Order: sequence, then structure tokens, then C-alpha cells
Amino acid sequence: MNNLNDINIAAQCIKDGKLVAFPTDTVYGLGANALNPLAVAKIFELKERPSFDPLIIHISNIQQLEILILTTDERIYKLAEKFWPGPLTMVLPKSRIVPDIVTSGLSTVGIRMPDNDIALELICKSECPIAAPSANKFGRISPTTAAHVKKQLPNIDYILDGGKTKVGIESTIIKLTEFGFQILRNGIITKEELEKIIPFDGNLKIEKISAPGMLKSHYSPNKMFFIANNATLKLGKSRAGLISFSGELEKGFRKVIKISERKDLKDYAVNMFEAMHTFEDDNEIEIIIAEPVYENGIGKAIMDRLRKAEFTWLQK
Ligand code: TXA
Ligand code: MG
Repeated sequence: MNNLNDINIAAQCIKDGKLVAFPTDTVYGLGANALNPLAVAKIFELKERPSFDPLIIHISNIQQLEILILTTDERIYKLAEKFWPGPLTMVLPKSRIVPDIVTSGLSTVGIRMPDNDIALELICKSECPIAAPSANKFGRISPTTAAHVKKQLPNIDYILDGGKTKVGIESTIIKLTEFGFQILRNGIITKEELEKIIPFDGNLKIEKISAPGMLKSHYSPNKMFFIANNATLKLGKSRAGLISFSGELEKGFRKVIKISERKDLKDYAVNMFEAMHTFEDDNEIEIIIAEPVYENGIGKAIMDRLRKAEFTWLQK
């Protein structure tokens, strides 16, 4: 665990324009001072992230929101009251203080307040909002432990270790429209929960650039990865690791990771990236197979990540 001093050193790094990896409620972030374009540029460089993919800004109190956005839309405050701190990102019209490099030139900015004490304290002590993507190489598996971060990004200035993250998949991203909200990325806060606060706007017309999180390929392990189905289950179980949910597909696999003893979708979200990392690092495993789940509620967010992880491998 961290002591106070670690966060002080990390906050000084942020103030000095350096990069810090830190735990959030969802996954580890690779953070920089959001208002310092040169610091933010280092994120894109280290992650090898294309400049068209905008970053989320992390805040620790609601006053910080007010300097970053242009609107005073009261729906934002209703959503913030219900879901912040927590795994919800709101895409909102940005103020001039937000550098273009953060938003890839868009007129909107994604903002969230993470529900993690280390993250909140880091932002507070850094005395600035922190721009942070997930702390992985672009397109690869998101990190849910400090070790996952080190594996992909060994040259970070500082890593705060807060243990395993509690949600396990990235935040739900929404955009507010005149009529309600649209979902740009599914997460554990579901459409149904959001609808209790404001109406869902089904007229999703996303300009390509406004939702790079919708790229078809993402979260990809560096060895063959497929969702279990009749065809992929024939690929050679003796060389394969199974990410198992129901327990019904396990026979014949070289190794099995049971993703949830109690068969709860929340556990699938919490453990899925870790399971991918474990099999990726295991020399006895050549193929990773993941069991699909029904696409209700959190199941949508899980299947979204599994499909994107599989996409590159389906092209080969
Ligand atoms: O849980 C999370 O959201 C994690 C932790 C670290 O906070 N962060 C995260 O960041 O997943 P990243 O960079 O891996 O994904 C951010 C995605 C972008 O790919 C983009 O799709 C979307 O957020 N995004 C950010 N700003 C946007 C904007 N102005 N308009 C539309 N989409 C935006
Ligand atoms: Mg990411």
C-alpha cells in the first residue's frame, strides 16, 4: 500500500510535467497535468496512441468541473450527484482552458471523478485536473494492477500502487444531447441506471472522430484471442486457456480461469483483463478463449470488450 509520501512524490511529478500511473476505481490511468499540453503530449508518446483519440480528464471536486466546461446544464449536476465519484464519464462542451491536445481538437471534453482515494488525493495534491487514458500501450489490454502497468510501460516516471482496481473495466461514457443521454462506451453503470436520472436518446449519430473508443479493435492480448463458439472451441483446447463463466465449457482445456465462483457478471468485469494478462504471460498457453455472456446490463460492457479484443485475431 501507499503511504502519504508516495502520493506527495507522485503529485510533485505531475506538477513538474511528468507522467504518473495511478489506480482508479476502473483501471489504472496514465496521468499528466491536463492543463499542460507538453505533459499531455508525453502520454500520447509513451502509449503510442494516435493523436485523434481524446483523453478523459479526472477531477477530485465539482469546482474543477466548472473551469473545464462551458455549460451549467443542471442535468450534469444531477448525474454527478448520483454517480460521482464513480465510473461515469460525461462528454461535455469544453472551455478554452482545456488544451486541444487533450480533446484531439474536439469541442467537447470527457470528464469524470474516480471513486478511488489514491486517485482523488493525487488530483487534490497535484492542484490540477489530471488527463489520463488507461495505462496500457494503445490497443492492448487495460491494466487492473500496478504489475500490468509495469509490463507494458516500464519507463513511466512514477507508479502509484493501489492494489487491484475494484471495477475492472473502463468507465461508462455518455454524451448529453438536447433530449437526454447517448452511450459512447458501455461500462458497469448501465443504460437502465442512467435512465432513472435522465431519458435515453436513441438517435445515436456519432461522427467518427467523436467516439474513437468505438474503434473495432482494442483491449487485445498479444496471443490468439477468441470468444467461445462452435468454431473457436475446435481450435485446440490442449493449447488453450479458457476464461470460464458458467463452468460448462471447461472440459479439455489446458488451463481454466474461473472468472466468478458465484456466477456474477460484476466479477467478470472485475477479473476479465487480469485473466487476459495471466494467459498472455503464460508460456503454456497459445490461444485464449473467453466464454460469452448475455448482453443485458453489465453483459453489454463485457461483450463489447471481448469483441474488440477478438477483432484483430479474426482478421488473421
Ligand atoms: O475508466 C476509464 O475511463 C479509464 C480510467 C483511467 O479513467 N480511462 C480510459 O481512458 O478508459 P481511455 O483513454 O483508455 O479511453 C478514453 C476514451 C477515448 O478512447 C474516447 O473514445 C473517449 O474516451 N473520449 C474521450 N474524450 C471524448 C470526447 N470529447 N468525445 C468523445 N469521446 C471521448
Ligand atoms: Mg484505454
